[in-house]
Amino acid sequence: MERAIICKGDSVSLSILAREDAPALYRIINDPEVHVFLSSPSRIYSLVDEYEWIDNTANVFNRSVNFAILENGTKEVVGVIGINPIEENNRGHVGYYISKDHWGKGYGTSALGMIIKFAFETMNLRKLHTCVYKPNVASQRVLEKNGFTRCGVMKENHFVPGYGYADEFIYELMNDRVK
Ligand SMILES: CC(C)(COP(=O)(O)OP(=O)(O)OC[C@H]1O[C@@H](n2cnc3c(N)ncnc32)[C@H](O)[C@@H]1OP(=O)(O)O)[C@@H](O)C(=O)NCCC(=O)NCCS
Repeated sequence: MERAIICKGDSVSLSILAREDAPALYRIINDPEVHVFLSSPSRIYSLVDEYEWIDNTANVFNRSVNFAILENGTKEVVGVIGINPIEENNRGHVGYYISKDHWGKGYGTSALGMIIKFAFETMNLRKLHTCVYKPNVASQRVLEKNGFTRCGVMKENHFVPGYGYADEFIYELMNDRVK
């Protein structure tokens, strides 16, 4: 499949999602070690859910923007990153996941860096924010390496299987160019 690359990085790039990506997303997101740290940790996703998500929300630029993360060498889809939703006051909530086979290669850090640049320089958003469960140290690291700061904590806010009710940290990053 010929793919449109929106942001090109050294190891991974961000591409427009396509229906053909559904089976890969279905495999990646149903891995318990991946979905345990997402917003609905107990949810099981069907292949139909993935096709519907790609059809309905993936490229609706006014409300959300979501990209497939592609490995440059193999062109394999290794994850998803998006701003979902794009909110009032020029804010956006960022979310992402990477296939477990590819953890620890810097792909999450690189993908987040690219979407920050896209959000601030192309979309002209003022601010990005997200929430991370306390046990999710890898994601906190990825956010901090990209300049996000922890600005709050919601105590025992979310049930995370294997960890019980976990604190949830709020992270934010301001776009310094926008006043
Ligand atoms: C979070 C996630 C996207 C990170 O992706 P990744 O491609 O492995 O991230 P990177 O390789 O760019 O960086 C991971 C960093 O976390 C560190 N890390 C990973 N596990 C860690 C742990 N248990 N303790 C401390 N640091 C850890 C790595 O050492 C690395 O930091 P470094 O570069 O300073 O060494 C991936 O783990 C994932 O998809 N998790 C499940 C879904 C998820 O949590 N999504 C985010 C919800 S907020």
